[in-house]
Amino acid sequence: MAVLDESVLLELDALVDVKEPVLTGLSNAAAWIYHTMSDLNWAGFYQVLGNDLLLGPFQGKPACTVLHRGKGVCGTAWELDQVIRVEDVHAFPGHIACDAASASEIVLPLHAGGRVVAVLDLDSPVPGRFSAEDEAWLVRAAELIESKLYGFQDRARLHRAQAPIGVLDSGVGGISVLRAMTGLMPAEDYIYYGDSLNAPYGTKTAEEVQRLTFHAASELMGYGVKALVVACNTATSAAIMRLRERYPDMPVIGVEPALKPAAKAAPGGRVMVMATPMTLSEHKFRELTAAYCNQVRILPVTCEGLMEFVERGELDSPELDAYLRDKLGPHLPVDAVVLGCTHYPFVADAIRKAVGSKASIWEGGPGAARELQRRLQQAGLLREPGRSGEVTFLNSLQNEAVLELSRRLLYGN
Ligand code: SME
Repeated sequence: MAVLDESVLLELDALVDVKEPVLTGLSNAAAWIYHTMSDLNWAGFYQVLGNDLLLGPFQGKPACTVLHRGKGVCGTAWELDQVIRVEDVHAFPGHIACDAASASEIVLPLHAGGRVVAVLDLDSPVPGRFSAEDEAWLVRAAELIESKLYGFQDRARLHRAQAPIGVLDSGVGGISVLRAMTGLMPAEDYIYYGDSLNAPYGTKTAEEVQRLTFHAASELMGYGVKALVVACNTATSAAIMRLRERYPDMPVIGVEPALKPAAKAAPGGRVMVMATPMTLSEHKFRELTAAYCNQVRILPVTCEGLMEFVERGELDSPELDAYLRDKLGPHLPVDAVVLGCTHYPFVADAIRKAVGSKASIWEGGPGAARELQRRLQQAGLLREPGRSGEVTFLNSLQNEAVLELSRRLLYGN
C-alpha cells in the first residue's frame, strides 16, 4: 500500500488538470484514489444538484444514482457540511448500502463559493478501515480537488483567456498593429473591426471620434473579447480615457506616436512626426511633445489625405510619391520619422523614398503589442503557446473588397 504522503498528493495534483472539465478531473481523481488506497470497494463522487446528490465518476460496483440531502452518510455529510467517518456502516442510522460488501465508509464534502458542491465517498469491506490519519490526508486531497476543479475564479480566468482580443481602427491601418501583435502572440485569436465606412477619423471632431470609437468597441464586446486594442492614434487621443472608464475590468490598450524610441535613437536630431490633424492637435500629443522637446527637434507634419491611399490599397504609385514629396520635402533632412498613424507603416517604402535612407522610421505597433502582452500576462489572460490563433476581420463597409484588402495587408499577398 502506498504511504499517503506529500509525494502521493503531488501525483494527484499532476493528474487533475484545472483546464479540463470538472467531470474529467473527478474521473481521474476517483480512479487514482481507488488504486492508491488499499482495501477499498468503492471510491467516487456525488455532485450536488438542487436538493439531491447525483452519482458522479467512481470506481467500484454500480451505485445509487440519487441520494437525498440529509439521508445516508453522503446526504448527512452534505447537510452538516462535515467529514463523516463511519467505522461500522451497519451501526450508522440510515446508511444506504449500494454494495453489500461495504463495512466502513468515509465521506468528505467539497466546496465552491462557500457551499458544498459535491462529496467524495470511500467504502471499504474492512470494518474501521479509515484512520484519523487517513482522514487528515483525504481532507488535503479533497481540498486539492476542490481548488483545481471548483476554483471558480481560476477556471473563469482560464476560460476568459480563451477569448479573442478585439482590435479596432478607423479602417485598415490598425492592421499594422495587428501584425505586430500576431507576430508577438501568435497563439491568440483576434477580431479586427475596421470602421472604413467612417474613415478618416483624423479630420473629424473629438466628439465624433469618441462616438464612433465607442460604437466600434461595443461591436467587439459582442464577441466577448478579453482585451481591447485601439489601433488608431486618433481614436486613442480622443477616447482612450473614457473607454478605460467604460470597461474598467478589461485591459484597454492604445497606440501613440513612437516618439520615445525615435528620440532615443536620434539624440539632438530632427524628428518628423507624421500624423492626422486631430492627433497632432490633441492634448495627448502636446504632452508627448513636452516630454521630448528638450532632447530632439520635433517637426509635426499633418498628413490629411495620406491614410486614404492605404484605404484604397494604393501602397505604391506615382501619385503617392508626389504627395509625400510635397508634404515631407519642406522638412527635410530629418534623422528620424515617427509614423503617428497606424495606416502609415503600409506606405513605409514610399516614405523611405521621400525621406532618404539615413532617417530611421518608427511605428507604434510593436510598443502597443508589448504593452498588451504585459497586461494580459499580469491579468493571467495570456493563452498558452503551441497553437496558431485565428484572425477574423469585420468592417463597417461590409464589402468583400475591404476584407480582401485587410487580409492582403496582414498576410502580404
Ligand atoms: N453509502 C452511501 C451511499 C453511496 S454508496 O456508498 C456508493 C450513503 O449512505 O450515503
